[in-house]
Amino acid sequence: MFPYRPMRGLDEGLYCVDGSFGRSPLGRRMTVLVLPSGRLAVHSAIRMEQADMAALDRLGPVGAIIVPNTLHKADAPWYAGRYPDATVLAPRKAVARLARRMRIDGTLEDDWPAELAAALDRLALGGVRMPEAAFCHRATRTLILTDLVFNLGVQFAGLSRLLLKLDDAYGRFGPTRLFRWVVLRNKAALLASLRELEQWDYDRIVMSHGDIVETGGKQLMRGAFASLGL
Ligand SMILES: [Fe+2]
Repeated sequence: MFPYRPMRGLDEGLYCVDGSFGRSPLGRRMTVLVLPSGRLAVHSAIRMEQADMAALDRLGPVGAIIVPNTLHKADAPWYAGRYPDATVLAPRKAVARLARRMRIDGTLEDDWPAELAAALDRLALGGVRMPEAAFCHRATRTLILTDLVFNLGVQFAGLSRLLLKLDDAYGRFGPTRLFRWVVLRNKAALLASLRELEQWDYDRIVMSHGDIVETGGKQLMRGAFASLGL
């Protein structure tokens, strides 16, 4: 288990937990949504101490565990074991790899339950080598991303600072250099996905690495991907 900050509420039915991940300077974030059914959807699960898991359970029973890509999976198997009634979902292209070490009940594309669809839109991004899905929590106008963009500050020093600068991830919102040079496979296909995200009504962005954007998220996305034609 890695250190984390206590769960905090971002909006009605929207919570997050900011955690660390080994020696990574990037940290990681779990997002928790209270669905209209009263059950919870957990995105990028972070394992917590018993008292904090109890606080999560007090919000409602976990109905869905969303594994958004193949990197943000570390604690998902533990959640899948703790919540046997929850449906575990991942992007179609990530399932084969994830299923080697954990229970996956379906794909985000083909098995999106009505219970989730009632609150949450999802889109598997096109044009990327590493499968990743984006989500929109309609009630709170929140876009939920994983590694598509970072929003790290300037609180880093030494080697972390150097590496983040090399990755073009130091003190800026946007896709990292690693994403642009390695993950991005087909610009036109990613652009088509970004245009679909544009159709979603969102203002806040919760990403896995960096500071949550509370407002103006759509403008930031346009700026970050302007070079792609967005
Ligand atoms: Fe990540």
